[in-house]
Amino acid sequence: MRVAIVGATGAVGHELLKVLETSSLDFSELQLYASPRSAGSTLEFRGQPLTVQATPDGALPADLVLASAGGSISKEKAPRWVEGGAVVIDNSSAFRYDDDVPLVVPEVNGEAALGHKGIIANPNCTTAIAVVAVAPIHRKYGVKRMIVSTYQATSGAGQKGMDELLTETHKVLHGQDAGHHEFVHPIPFNVIPHIDVFQDNGYTKEEMKVVWETRKIMGDESLQISCTAVRIPTLRTHSEAITLELERPATPEAIRELLATAAGVEVRDDPSAKLYPMPLTASGKYDVEVGRIRQSLVFDGGIELFVAGDQLLKGAALNAVQIAEDLQRRGGLKVQRG
Ligand code: A2P
Repeated sequence: MRVAIVGATGAVGHELLKVLETSSLDFSELQLYASPRSAGSTLEFRGQPLTVQATPDGALPADLVLASAGGSISKEKAPRWVEGGAVVIDNSSAFRYDDDVPLVVPEVNGEAALGHKGIIANPNCTTAIAVVAVAPIHRKYGVKRMIVSTYQATSGAGQKGMDELLTETHKVLHGQDAGHHEFVHPIPFNVIPHIDVFQDNGYTKEEMKVVWETRKIMGDESLQISCTAVRIPTLRTHSEAITLELERPATPEAIRELLATAAGVEVRDDPSAKLYPMPLTASGKYDVEVGRIRQSLVFDGGIELFVAGDQLLKGAALNAVQIAEDLQRRGGLKVQRG
């Protein structure tokens, strides 16, 4: 099996290379693609340099494409990659809401990927991280309402976002004004309650992605969800405060026990020892940290929790590779030769 990464030089691309190094995915060839600017540069994979190529217009000589070069590239090129016989796992939002495109987090709805028609969508990072923690609770106790406030790292805006945090913070520390390109305001020493564009209902598209995608992944259109998405000056790992109203009352102890055995979750919850989820501890980890589990003061039998998940891993690269591994295991990584 030949695997291609499109967007290999980006922040998610780098993580895809790292995750693939230790992945159980069985493949014989890895091809790297990016913009023409990066053509000829090399990236290391399992100790060997691999040359980055400009992404061609047509089909790719690959059986699996992991795409992370943005929505417009995917929208334009993914159908051609599929026509050429590749299965595409797409990290952008280009196809997430199409009825015939599965939106998959393997711990939650891995079987949905089997129904693919060539393209499988990787969810928005905030959603992927939240559902790993919330889906087991939903299965056992039935989530009625879910209220999310996010604390999102600059990695959500790619390598350029992380670079901007560092260079603009450096400016401020040297007495200069911070500028901004990737974010709507300067990011150093700031929090910005504005990610993606505002919708007619007053929510941003980032906030609505959490609503639409959580419903699609958990297979429950009746879920009542509200989100406030906020950019903060951290490099990577998104954190989220989540309040859940439940059909059946739960205790914090029962939730801790449930999540202790849930796939993809690390319960980190001992406030007396100052243990709770944080970007500093969750960055670089495959599991999503969950803690601050407590009884809601607002909803009877409801639960409040705090999660931190590496946006570049579970929120992007890791989830994409896990979809591929899961599909290969289930025999669904079939190549429909065009
Ligand atoms: P490049 O590094 O050559 O610009 P990030 O999300 O971190 O900004 O990364 C975006 C990724 O998408 C990079 O690998 C970038 O490559 C790639 N990319 C940007 N524009 C194109 C394009 N027109 N065709 C293919 N890849 C692209």
